[in-house]
Amino acid sequence: MILIIAGTDRLNSNTRKIANYVHGIFSELGEKSHVLDLSELKPTAHGGPHYGGATPPDALAAAIDQVNSADAIYFCVPEYNGSMPGALKYFIDHWKYPESFEFRPVAFCGLGWMFGGLRPVEHLQGVMGYRNAFMYPERIFFRDVPLHMKDKTTVDDMILSDLFKRQCAGFVKFIHALKSAGLDANSRRPPVPHA
Ligand SMILES: Cc1cc2nc3c(=O)[nH]c(=O)nc-3n(C[C@H](O)[C@H](O)[C@H](O)COP(=O)(O)O)c2cc1C
Repeated sequence: MILIIAGTDRLNSNTRKIANYVHGIFSELGEKSHVLDLSELKPTAHGGPHYGGATPPDALAAAIDQVNSADAIYFCVPEYNGSMPGALKYFIDHWKYPESFEFRPVAFCGLGWMFGGLRPVEHLQGVMGYRNAFMYPERIFFRDVPLHMKDKTTVDDMILSDLFKRQCAGFVKFIHALKSAGLDANSRRPPVPHA
């Protein structure tokens, strides 16, 4: 299962729309995926930080289990003030090293205005690289997102939708290649439930 993280806790975000769109592409490819929307964690997630600890806050524990058992993670990350949203970094800072990160295949789509989310993707790549994830090199940078997605739920720009389809198909091959070689996170270290 590919976990698609909609990387903001802003309600009704464009990021969530794109996460759903990517979910549809994976389904067409015959690949199971699940959208984790950080806005769904919001009401209780800030009950006190327990960064990287053995017992994450209840509001985050189930979501962290999803991370730890996912075959791969696809990040949809909007640009907020030149970086990733704090809610996404806060969530990641509750993951466990090495279980959550190491050898886990990850892919990225950045969302923003003029620069299409280049900065949050590169910041996130810095975090994932530091924590030894396997990064799929083809990234999507979706610019002017609020204009494109106004009153829409799908990406209707042909060039962009082809890029998404090519990236997702390549990422699926990447995941399967790592898995068949026994190199992905779950082959090397079966996921351990948090409790
Ligand atoms: C708090 C906040 C800060 C933002 N800062 C930037 C920014 O620095 N650069 C940019 O291109 N877009 C910025 N945006 C616009 C979002 O990146 C854009 O709307 C994004 O594509 C989708 O965001 P959404 O998922 O919250 O709808 C910001 C939006 C918010 C809510």
